[in-house]
Amino acid sequence: TPVAPAAAPPMGWNSWNNFGCNINENIIKAAADQIVANGLDQVGYQYVNIDDCWMASTRDSAGNLRADPVKFPSGIKAVADYVHGKGLKLGIYSSAGTATCQGLPASLGHETADANSFAAWGVDYLKYDNCNNQGQPALQRYLAMGNALKATGRPIFYSLCNWGQENPWLFGPATGGNMWRTTGDITNNWGSVTSLLDQQAGLELFSHPGAWNDPDMLEVGRAGLTDTEARSHFSLWALMNAPLILGNDLTSMSAATKATIANPDVIAVDQDWGGSQGRRVRDLGDTQVWAKPMSDGSVTAVLFNRSGATATISTTAAEIGIGGSTSYALKDLWSGATSTSTGAISASVPSHGVAMFRVGRAGTTAAALAAGTYQVSAM
Ligand code: DGJ
Repeated sequence: TPVAPAAAPPMGWNSWNNFGCNINENIIKAAADQIVANGLDQVGYQYVNIDDCWMASTRDSAGNLRADPVKFPSGIKAVADYVHGKGLKLGIYSSAGTATCQGLPASLGHETADANSFAAWGVDYLKYDNCNNQGQPALQRYLAMGNALKATGRPIFYSLCNWGQENPWLFGPATGGNMWRTTGDITNNWGSVTSLLDQQAGLELFSHPGAWNDPDMLEVGRAGLTDTEARSHFSLWALMNAPLILGNDLTSMSAATKATIANPDVIAVDQDWGGSQGRRVRDLGDTQVWAKPMSDGSVTAVLFNRSGATATISTTAAEIGIGGSTSYALKDLWSGATSTSTGAISASVPSHGVAMFRVGRAGTTAAALAAGTYQVSAM
């Protein structure tokens, strides 16, 4: 059974992509402040996650992990209290190895003590990395921490970060894992985003409520991606039921970044479990069609242009798995426009961009879609 309930993929922010090791308690508290100030909590973002480099270079005399006294002089419990006071949850990081990837103390062989520390501090989420693992099997290492987390009695979302090694989608559920990284690290460039996307094909069936595939955190709003590319990244991660863990500096966000990460219609796609993670249903190389069934019977489609020029991309209701009718209501999830179609779904899509449509099942009217009602009550 999973360590924590996780009916939907987690949403929040993590320090690593933007700050790396240069973190401190003020940066973490500011992230919590900005989530609330920007209303991101209102659209679902709840975790504030501290990544590598929060810990002191040695354990205390009793063998327990402790926070770096310069970076986190108030200690992790004080940060957790602050984050909880904002109505949010706190995540922390360790490695299933003898040291973290940055060479600091980690949890292999200290699972019970460290899980107890995390629970005592009020931690709600653990990202558990794979560095310095001494060649021990992943199942054994990740199970030890999963059991230790469960034994604390505190629900702590358990994120396995072993980079897709040893097929975590197969052994992850047995460890109590709520989520497992499927690949190596994302970086803030288009090639990284598309490479990680391509590596998700074939893993759809291993994703389900309580236990999710993790194609890594978001690079939306960071230098290296255009606004168009960042929107594609966000759309496709949502289509795949990926965690939506922001990695940008929330204290200096552009209006375009905020509009992307706070789009409630796109977030709703990510958070909805329709029985399957979204997938690529057509691949012509330069252009692709992706689709995800929604729990109300509608389907979300992403028309994705990977080429260097604007392209018209077309699909059909049948291709995305919602055929059999003569009339479909569509909502463009980025423009908000609604329309009706006999089955063709087509858009002019900019280079590296997407068009994203929610397609109502037969009988749904455009007016109902516009009002956010996708379900037909009587057919
Ligand atoms: C490797 C992980 O995959 C990254 O996400 C990050 O946590 C770093 N380690 C931190 O050292």
